[in-house]
Amino acid sequence: MRCLLDLTGESHSEESLYQQITFPLAPPDRPYVFLNMVSTLDGKITLGEVGDTASGLGSPMDQKLMKRLQGNAQGVLIGASTLRAGHITYPPSLWRAVVTTSGNVPADARFFTESPGKAVVFTTEQMPEPQRRSLQEVAHVVVCGAGKVNLSQALYFLRQHLGVERLLCEGGGELNFEMFAAGLIDEWFLTLAPKVKGGRHIPTTVEGTGMPREQAVRMQLLSVYEHEGELYLRYRRRA
Ligand SMILES: NC(=O)c1ccc[n+]([C@@H]2O[C@H](COP(=O)([O-])OP(=O)(O)OC[C@H]3O[C@@H](n4cnc5c(N)ncnc54)[C@H](OP(=O)(O)O)[C@@H]3O)[C@@H](O)[C@H]2O)c1
Repeated sequence: MRCLLDLTGESHSEESLYQQITFPLAPPDRPYVFLNMVSTLDGKITLGEVGDTASGLGSPMDQKLMKRLQGNAQGVLIGASTLRAGHITYPPSLWRAVVTTSGNVPADARFFTESPGKAVVFTTEQMPEPQRRSLQEVAHVVVCGAGKVNLSQALYFLRQHLGVERLLCEGGGELNFEMFAAGLIDEWFLTLAPKVKGGRHIPTTVEGTGMPREQAVRMQLLSVYEHEGELYLRYRRRA
């Protein structure tokens, strides 16, 4: 692995990169939030079809870094489509939260079952009753809003009730947009895999309705590492 740039004042090797990150303090009303995603050079977040996992996109090194980033968090947040895509598993100590209006997520997924008491479902008043009852068996179901989940409220819950000070967001693109639009992403760890996928219907790292030109989120580059043509980028939101 090569360090191409590191403005954090540190210089890491393959063994130490993202092993123990010192983040700025969290604001009082929510955790400090860092996003981690891997994409192709053209920004796609799966090599498969819509709804497939991200399997095969990042290298074994990217997988390793993903686990290390999880190790820096006390909780992780994902969108329902990412959970529906499957193969989601986390270290037992990690709070795991999913955002959904439909409640259409599999209650028997390892996300819920592998660490009893550690799962949270953030939803709205619109979640149908059967889904609510089934998810209440395996998770804390928290209503935050009427139409869409109010993500600021959800993050307040994680901080105040569960003591989460560092939250890892793991996508997908729809949730990422909502988080960026609400000003809730502090840092972005982005792996650029040297692959091209194409396909206008395939989700990219940030989807949603898009921001107006003047509200595009400005990020500043903190570090760049390279391994076998794959880039590991770390950005922080500009103040
Ligand atoms: N390459 C990577 O690093 C990476 C990372 C993560 C995911 N992925 C891939 O990305 C794809 C999924 O991404 P995606 O953009 O399609 O979807 P997503 O962001 O994972 O999930 C979207 C869903 O989350 C729920 N949601 C999001 N924001 C909400 C809000 N404010 N209030 C209520 N519900 C909200 C809704 O669920 P309901 O429809 O249930 O209401 C919505 O349909 C999968 O293929 C997955 O494998 C790749």
